[in-house]
Amino acid sequence: MDSAEHKPLFTTRVLPVDADKLGTFIFNEPSKSFLGDWDICLSENSQDTVNLLEAVNQLQISGGPVAFPTETVYGLGADATRSDAVAGIYAAKQRPADNPLIVHISSLGQLRKLLSSTTGLQADSPHFADQKIIPAIYHSLISRFWPGPLTILLPLPELSPLAPAVTGSLSTFGVRMPSSRLALALIHLVGIPIAAPSANASTKPSPTTAAHVLHDLSGRIELILDGGPCKVGVESTVVDGLSAPPVILRPGGISVDMLRQCPGWEDVAVGYKDITETVAPRAPGMKYKHYSPRAKVVLVHGHLSFGLVNQYLGLGRKVGIAKTKTWEDNNLVEPGQTVMQDSTTPQNAGIGRPLHRFTIKRRTTITSSDESRIGRLSEGDAATHASIIYVSAVNLGVETAAIAQGLFSALRELDLAGVDIIFVEAISETEDDVAAAIMNRLRKAAEIETKS
Ligand code: TXA
Ligand code: MG
Repeated sequence: MDSAEHKPLFTTRVLPVDADKLGTFIFNEPSKSFLGDWDICLSENSQDTVNLLEAVNQLQISGGPVAFPTETVYGLGADATRSDAVAGIYAAKQRPADNPLIVHISSLGQLRKLLSSTTGLQADSPHFADQKIIPAIYHSLISRFWPGPLTILLPLPELSPLAPAVTGSLSTFGVRMPSSRLALALIHLVGIPIAAPSANASTKPSPTTAAHVLHDLSGRIELILDGGPCKVGVESTVVDGLSAPPVILRPGGISVDMLRQCPGWEDVAVGYKDITETVAPRAPGMKYKHYSPRAKVVLVHGHLSFGLVNQYLGLGRKVGIAKTKTWEDNNLVEPGQTVMQDSTTPQNAGIGRPLHRFTIKRRTTITSSDESRIGRLSEGDAATHASIIYVSAVNLGVETAAIAQGLFSALRELDLAGVDIIFVEAISETEDDVAAAIMNRLRKAAEIETKS
């Protein structure tokens, strides 16, 4: 970090908003859903409403950026039609300028209005109601998965009102309708499409709590809406239906199988790098290092043994562990070793999971080759001291959805615990697309992938 990064530009405020206390959502005929015409009748005298309206005002007056929760991860939102506001997102995140942003909408009417600028149609013209303005390939996806964790690519309208920085130099833009009621209410009340990448500092794990956003962007943005932890925990699935066959550019909450059930999507191709193939990145964001905590991440297939950990101890004595489906607490303890302390710290590892700390003391004699790897030993019982490792472990649980929800949070908490290296238990990515999304993010975070 350079010194400019430490100089706060703003006093960042975190305002809690409970979406259930905002008021009443009113759905009009015929669809009676967020896809149709809807409105919100705000509760008066509710602090949640006051807080939400502060963000609305800021997005309307300065354009943002303002951080807000979605069902996937927290987003850093700005008025997608204002270049100065969108520039604020890139500056706060320190994001490369050629990595385009996702546009968030709160109704199909808002999207049609955006797209109608191709033809110059007015929103209230008879043609405006024509669904054809949204390419037919997407109709089944929209009716099935919106609002929700799916981003679609659309052709950029000729007379696009979007700030050029939203799309980079591309002729397409990504758009999604989030299902978080807080996000929907915010976008609806602002009345303008909101460009929003994940609200982390570029390269860091995506934020799934307001505290994560504050950690990365404190002093860099004015406002964070705190709507609690995100339910999904990994970002939206990004699909390109404009190519033949259509392609999944980023795995996320919507699975390949779910997509394949939709007309026109039976042959959808996987356009992201997975274990079996290497594909040149087509979503610009895919080429960057991502989701990385400060500590080095080792992604481990199979069991975690002391032998494996020992191979990496040259990197530091403080070891983090993120367990998923099979690892046990006592994996690292072998005959001749003792667990010195065993405690669960009072703070939780975000998303309600405890951070479990213990220290392993190895009784075996340190050899001179060990010595050269772990540094010279001093006199007396130094051999014992040198073989102590400090472990901080987070158990993400065995359910794939729970692992997705807690993953980024665990990486961040282990960083805060000061570990030098994090061993993460891999899962089978063939299980489903949420599992594929987890492994996709872990591969980008990990410097080493290994089998034991
Ligand atoms: O769940 C999500 O999608 C979250 C929340 C905040 O909505 N947003 C998010 O945005 O993850 P971001 O900027 O971190 O990731 C957007 C991804 C990037 O990989 C970007 O390259 C890709 O979408 N993308 C955006 N527009 C694109 C376009 N026109 N063509 C190809 N890829 C695009
Ligand atoms: Mg991101």
